[in-house]
Amino acid sequence: MFPVELNGRRAGWREITVDDAEVVVGWQSVPEIFTYIESPEGTTLAGHRQLISGYVEDGQRLDDRRDYSLALTVDGQLAGTGGIHLRDGDPSCAELGYLLHPDHWGKGIATEAAGLLLRFAFDTLRLHRVEALTRPDNLASRRVLEKIGMTREGLRRQDVHLHGRWHDSLLFAILETDPVPAAPSSH
Ligand SMILES: CC(C)(COP(=O)(O)OP(=O)(O)OC[C@H]1O[C@@H](n2cnc3c(N)ncnc32)[C@H](O)[C@@H]1OP(=O)(O)O)[C@@H](O)C(=O)NCCC(=O)NCCS
Repeated sequence: MFPVELNGRRAGWREITVDDAEVVVGWQSVPEIFTYIESPEGTTLAGHRQLISGYVEDGQRLDDRRDYSLALTVDGQLAGTGGIHLRDGDPSCAELGYLLHPDHWGKGIATEAAGLLLRFAFDTLRLHRVEALTRPDNLASRRVLEKIGMTREGLRRQDVHLHGRWHDSLLFAILETDPVPAAPSSH
């Protein structure tokens, strides 16, 4: 499906464009964003533009789109990135992720945004299962996943190499038959 546009009260998702690259590259100099996730440090503006035009091309071209790499907006302005990636072997299952600029933290934005992704996954894409992985000490992200109705299923030991050492990941998931909180809203 292309293009995707999801709108909540404050948070929204739209297709990422090459024009977003400059802002996204600027986030490399905001270390708080990358405490628990890998930084694209060193990726140039040209590199980001190339990456994004690849997403756009694939999104438009592929009948069986698997990669929904999207721009996260707050009040219509670019404020983060994220999306849903359908599993290669079984596209009824997917993984979601998100990254929000710290200017917008603590206002319920990620909860609203992740909730929009879940409703898109189940209502539009008709997926069966959506997963998310987070570092155990990423308490804000764990809370977001709980608030959108995901269940903690287990711990994957040392499956991410980040900032020079191995880290565990917590696996959260939700099934199409699980209750999804109706309308996560911003504070
Ligand atoms: C994780 C992230 C998306 C959260 O965004 P956000 O918009 O601030 O999240 P929300 O406001 O919707 O919800 C955050 C929740 O975590 C809680 N929280 C935040 N920091 C916390 C902490 N240190 N300890 C415990 N709870 C915490 C908040 O109180 C809130 O819960 P509440 O509504 O029950 O009070 C944001 O911090 C981020 O982008 N971080 C960098 C990238 C990243 O780590 N992405 C996730 C990868 S798995």
